[in-house]
Amino acid sequence: LDYRVTGLLNPLSIPNKLLTGPGPSNQHPEVSTALSAPLLGHLHPEFTKIMDDVKDGIRYFFQTNNDWSFAISGTGHCAMEAACMNLLEPGETVLVCRNGIWGDRFAELSRRLSLKPVLLSQPPGSVFTPEQLESALQQHRPSVVFVVHGESSTGTLQPLEHLGGVCRKHGALLLVDSVAAAGGAPLLTDDWLIDCVYTGSQKCLGCTPGLGLISFSEAARRKILSRKVPPPSFYLDASQLANYWGCRTTEPPDQPVSARRYHHTAPISLVYAAREALRLVAVEGLPAAWERHERAADKLRAGLQGRLGQRLFVSEPQDRAPTVTTIAVPEGVDWKAVVQHAMAKHSVEIAGGLGPTAGQVWRIGLMGLNATEAVAERVLAALEDSLKAVGVATPNL
Ligand code: GLV
Repeated sequence: LDYRVTGLLNPLSIPNKLLTGPGPSNQHPEVSTALSAPLLGHLHPEFTKIMDDVKDGIRYFFQTNNDWSFAISGTGHCAMEAACMNLLEPGETVLVCRNGIWGDRFAELSRRLSLKPVLLSQPPGSVFTPEQLESALQQHRPSVVFVVHGESSTGTLQPLEHLGGVCRKHGALLLVDSVAAAGGAPLLTDDWLIDCVYTGSQKCLGCTPGLGLISFSEAARRKILSRKVPPPSFYLDASQLANYWGCRTTEPPDQPVSARRYHHTAPISLVYAAREALRLVAVEGLPAAWERHERAADKLRAGLQGRLGQRLFVSEPQDRAPTVTTIAVPEGVDWKAVVQHAMAKHSVEIAGGLGPTAGQVWRIGLMGLNATEAVAERVLAALEDSLKAVGVATPNL
């Protein structure tokens, strides 16, 4: 048999890198340990107990009492697709707030699902006001509004406090992508009247990539359960998943929860990993985690603007995400050479731009385990040396 397996005959060898791009971030050692625990079956009672812990952890992480809070067996992107195809039916209008790549991506998914996306656009690096949202709601009368909490392509943090009330007033559900913010910035799902929120496991949670965490409000749950046609994917069908995760899928609410049925085989080890990562969040406490992310980001921003003399891409300080910081690449500088030097000499990840910021920014993520002032200092030192290597003059060089 002539298969070329020469490389495969060597044991796996992985370099140790500081993952300070927009994700994945380095995972907690406890998460790595959980990944190597013995497998259980996907309906074994010991495993369904772990699933129940994960549901509790997701409710805490998103600050919600939503019954439908569970994990999707796929990345945050998969959770985005699940939210889109469950909350909306063909022909329905969705208002997509677009100020970076994720709004564009959601509009693309909507078109593929025969929905009617209408765009409310803001320039990359800025955020939406409740007034802008209200006038778009009046004009387009969508059934769902999609907004991004932490725009990882631009580095903005969308204020969400007042958007849910505006959506409710106009009969629309509020859907929030918090892949690059949840766990690193305040997110109060119930208080802020958010109807669906999702995130990925690999960013502020400090877990392995591959799980999406999602939660649906009662209004969202009712809309899904009264769909005229089932969602186009069986794998991502929220009511099937809710049953597998031991959530209530029948009315009226006082009926007993139906027995869990086989739907698909959950990625058992990833669910262990998420359980441990969510436990660590609960032990630290969300307010402490949010503050830690803010402190690390403050240290990074101060160093970038001060001793490195760089300009932050997001001009309004209150619009900057604590999780992903974007730096405008100075005129004439080879951004890729800086990225390559930081990795080759320091094993530090600094990412380039994405979507509308491609070629224009560097992106630094201080998320999860990496949201510390010590890591911020390590990234600053690596970037300073890399700028020097490509000949950029900075105040301190
Ligand atoms: C992924 O989320 C990215 O922003 O690169």
